[in-house]
Amino acid sequence: MNNTVTHRQPWNTSIDYPELPVSARRQEIAEALQRHQVIIVAGETGSGKTTQLPKICLELGLSDKGMIGHTQPRRLAARTVAARIAQELKTELGQAVGYQVRFHDQVSEQSHIKLMTDGILLAETQRDRLLRRYSVLIIDEAHERSLNIDFLLGYLKQLLPKRPDLKLIITSATIDLQRFSDHFSKAPIIEVSGRTYPVTLLYRPLHELEVEDDKAQDLQVGILQAVDELTLIDRQTREAGPGDILVFLPGERDIRETAETLRKAQLRDTEVIPLYARLSLAEQNRVFGEDRKAGRRIVLATNVAETSLTVPGIRYVIDPGLARISRYSYRSKVQRLPIEAVSQASANQRAGRCGRVAPGTCIRLYSEDDFLQRPAFTDAEIQRTNLAAVILNMLQLGLGDIARFPFVDPPDSRFINDGFKLLEELGAVTSKRQLTALGRDLARLPVDPRIARMLVAANHLGSLTEVLVIASALSVQDPRERPHDKRQAADEKHQAYLDDDSDFITLLNLWKAYELQRIELSSQQLKKWCQTHFISWVRMREWRDLHRQLHLSAKELGFVENKDDADYASIHKALLTGLLSHIGFKQEKGEYLGARNRRFYIFPGSGIFKKSPKWIMCAELLETSKLFAHYVAKIEPEWIEEPAAHLVKRSWMEPHWEQKRAQVVAIEQVTLYGLIIVPKRRVHYGSID
Ligand code: CDP
Ligand code: MG
Repeated sequence: MNNTVTHRQPWNTSIDYPELPVSARRQEIAEALQRHQVIIVAGETGSGKTTQLPKICLELGLSDKGMIGHTQPRRLAARTVAARIAQELKTELGQAVGYQVRFHDQVSEQSHIKLMTDGILLAETQRDRLLRRYSVLIIDEAHERSLNIDFLLGYLKQLLPKRPDLKLIITSATIDLQRFSDHFSKAPIIEVSGRTYPVTLLYRPLHELEVEDDKAQDLQVGILQAVDELTLIDRQTREAGPGDILVFLPGERDIRETAETLRKAQLRDTEVIPLYARLSLAEQNRVFGEDRKAGRRIVLATNVAETSLTVPGIRYVIDPGLARISRYSYRSKVQRLPIEAVSQASANQRAGRCGRVAPGTCIRLYSEDDFLQRPAFTDAEIQRTNLAAVILNMLQLGLGDIARFPFVDPPDSRFINDGFKLLEELGAVTSKRQLTALGRDLARLPVDPRIARMLVAANHLGSLTEVLVIASALSVQDPRERPHDKRQAADEKHQAYLDDDSDFITLLNLWKAYELQRIELSSQQLKKWCQTHFISWVRMREWRDLHRQLHLSAKELGFVENKDDADYASIHKALLTGLLSHIGFKQEKGEYLGARNRRFYIFPGSGIFKKSPKWIMCAELLETSKLFAHYVAKIEPEWIEEPAAHLVKRSWMEPHWEQKRAQVVAIEQVTLYGLIIVPKRRVHYGSID
């Protein structure tokens, strides 16, 4: 397809610029853009990078031969930014300014500017390798360094020499700018200073509050007290109207709970509005709309409001300093989504959100010492992700050889090799490192590839319902608690769920017991129940959250959950497909021989420790005083060969003529990673070779 032909009229309407730092420097930016192929524009949130840069390109006539492509990390931002620019250009959204996100395309032949998520642009590189439809690309929020952004920065570096007519603008908060400049052959950096008002920082650490020892509860109380304090400050200093408050929360669940807490508090003349990426259009419009239901708004937002979205008119920020950050554990080899303390850069971005229209106040629900001890920046996602998952992603996107891809921060070659080895084990790539059909499916499930493999198998084996529960459990921390001084009491309680063949069944039992209580009990009673049963209520919530997410992804892929209970074999055969290098065969004194001659022990806390069956598999191998298997289950050796068909080695001994079969028969031995899984089997020698 030739995308160079457009039916668009050149832009000839004059353009107005609101008074913003970027507008003030537009002459300089325009000149730099004419002289250089790549420029980097940095500046504080609110300085006009996102909304004004496309207009500068438009005024330069850069959209005459192709579109101005403009990427955002999040769907929600792509839409609101497009709406804002359309409004500033006095056109209808979808005409001169369009946007495209997953499930939604509002770009027309008339569009000069196209907003999209970075994922959409990456997908376009597969169909249009040279991205010919664009004459300018603006990669916004590059400091976020998500995988998508890193992929784009690498892809574009390769593309630029092939498209000398293409202009590229990288925008970033004032974070680590030299790195971007170096990546693009010393591209010039233009730093615009933000017009911001001073923000007063107040530190109100949660642990100083006198509440029961329950973190989630703590957070609610902390937010409520901060709202009270801000209400008071507001009354004392207000010149006009009560000021809106923005609260940063780690996830949707916390947003729902905080909304409930605030509703119960019956605050006067206050409207509480949730804001997260998955909201419907109508719900999003509530945040950005003009019509107010009450004098004051309290907006409860996830990270989306940190840099890429401007919630208008915010005077106050409440920042618990937490975010859900996806992180790969090299220790346990699974990708988790823990709630973590955000970096100093993030915390400062958050505070900055209330210095836009007037001096603001930000309450941090942690101490200044805590702040000072935090890392300066959040590390790039590529450093937090299992490389097997990254490779899978790159293969699916056709980005070529990961070892030669020009990453801003290239990953270590040893980790790359490990990543490929695991993908081969899972059947996601061939021994020649080509993506398989199965690999394509795995790439579409947003979990660790091992766990994705289990889900695909479970769908075929009719055990998806059970495996969804187990798979999500493996991606969160074990909810069972064993406080030092009450170990025995805890173990006695946990005994009720224990299965002596499989720790995975134990997890299922725990899930079922909790679900029964959850339906019966009030949330206060449920917390109590968790306490007396030594189960972490917070981690149970995380488990349920992840389960819901996985359930939705599986549904999107057309997977079917089984209505009847699946049996032991179909559950464990599914799990085994993701754990082929985590099998073990019993030796002496409780020792197991595993793949590649690795020796390990069942962790004594495992329910199957006593039985110690001949053949086992485990979800995690962790080295402490010894190498221990965690989450262990008994397996039958016959289950291994079929899913490992692409990995096993066969050898034959003693070929001889058998009168009865009228065939030459040999003794076959089958090994997997050096482990003998079929010691002796008589096979027809003629079928070998
Ligand atoms: O990208 P950057 O953070 O540098 O700034 P921007 O998003 O272009 O925003 C520039 C100005 O436009 C800010 O002062 C915002 O308050 C305002 N704006 C707005 O009022 N509504 C929007 N939907 C987007 C921006
Ligand atoms: Mg911006």
